[in-house]
Amino acid sequence: MSNTHNSRRTFLALAAAVPSALAITGVASSQTSDAGNQPGGTRGAVITGSSRGIGAATARRLARDGFAVTINYLTNQDLAEAVVRDIEAAGGRAIVRQGDVADPAAVKALFDANDEAFGGVDVVVNNAGIMNVGAFAQMTDEAFDRMMATNVKGSFNVLREASRRVRDGGRIISLSSSIIKMSPPGTAAYAATKAVQEVYSSVLAKELGGRNISVNAISPGAVDTQLLRQHGQEALQGIPEATPLRRLGQPEDIANVIALLCSQDGAWIDGQNVFANGGIN
Ligand SMILES: NC(=O)c1ccc[n+]([C@@H]2O[C@H](COP(=O)([O-])OP(=O)(O)OC[C@H]3O[C@@H](n4cnc5c(N)ncnc54)[C@H](OP(=O)(O)O)[C@@H]3O)[C@@H](O)[C@H]2O)c1
Repeated sequence: MSNTHNSRRTFLALAAAVPSALAITGVASSQTSDAGNQPGGTRGAVITGSSRGIGAATARRLARDGFAVTINYLTNQDLAEAVVRDIEAAGGRAIVRQGDVADPAAVKALFDANDEAFGGVDVVVNNAGIMNVGAFAQMTDEAFDRMMATNVKGSFNVLREASRRVRDGGRIISLSSSIIKMSPPGTAAYAATKAVQEVYSSVLAKELGGRNISVNAISPGAVDTQLLRQHGQEALQGIPEATPLRRLGQPEDIANVIALLCSQDGAWIDGQNVFANGGIN
C-alpha cells in the first residue's frame, strides 16, 4: 500500500476517533451560555497577558462592551491592578489573577477565579506571549525554550481550558502575527510560535463545531508595545513607511478587531486567521 494511501487512512481513523474522544472528556456536553442569548446576564471574558499592551487595550474595550473581565499577568502586578481600576472607574467589572500560562495549574486557577467571580466564561483571548529574536546562528536554547513554553505550550494550556469551559455561543481568539507571512531575518523561532496559533484555531473551531462557538486567530502587524520596544528603536524603524496606512499599529487597533469578533456582527467568522496590520504583509 502506498504511503499516501496509508496517511489518508490514518487521517480518516483520527477523524473518526475525535467524536468519541470528545465524549470521553465531556467537551461536547451542551451548556447554555448567556453570551448572546440572555441579555442582562453576566458575560465573562478571560484575557491572558492583559497587564499591558494589546491585552490591556482588549480588556478595557471588552469591559466597555459589557463583559466582566479577568485580567492576567506574569510579573507586573501594579500595571494589572491599574487596568482593573480603570475598568471599574468606567463602570465595568474586572478581577485580576497572576499566573504563568506555561503552568497548566496556574491556567486552571485563572479560569476558576473567573468562574467564581462571574459565573462562567464566554470569551477567551489567548494573548500572553513573548518575543525573543535572533538569527539561527545566535539564538540560545534558553531563549528558544522560554518562548516555546510561553507561546506554544502556554497557548495550548489556555485553549485546552477554554475548550472545556467556554459556554455555547462564546468566542475564543488567539494572537498570531503578520510576521508569519513576512519572514524577516531573526524571527524564525518567534514566527513558528505564532504560526501555531493559526493551526490551533482552525482545529479547535472544528472540535467545538455545533455549539455556536467561533475560534479564530488574529495576526497584528507591528504594534507599539513593550514587546517591540524592548528590542530598541530599530525594531520600529521603517515600519510606518512600509505600511500602506502609513503608521504603526496601536493596541486599540487590535482590540477593536477582537471586539468585532466578539460581537454579533463578527459571528460568521470562524476558524480563520484575521490579518489586522494596516496593509503591511
Ligand atoms: N506588539 C506587536 O507588534 C505584536 C504583533 C503581533 C502579535 N503580537 C502578539 O500579541 C500578544 C500581545 O503582545 P503585546 O505586544 O501586547 O505584548 P506586551 O506588551 O509585551 O505584553 C505581554 C503581556 O503578556 C504577559 N505575559 C508574558 N508572559 C506571560 C506568561 N508566561 N504568563 C502570563 N502572562 C504573560 C505580560 O505580563 P507582565 O506585564 O506581567 O510581564 C503582558 O501582560 C503576544 O502574543 C504577541 O506575540 C504582538
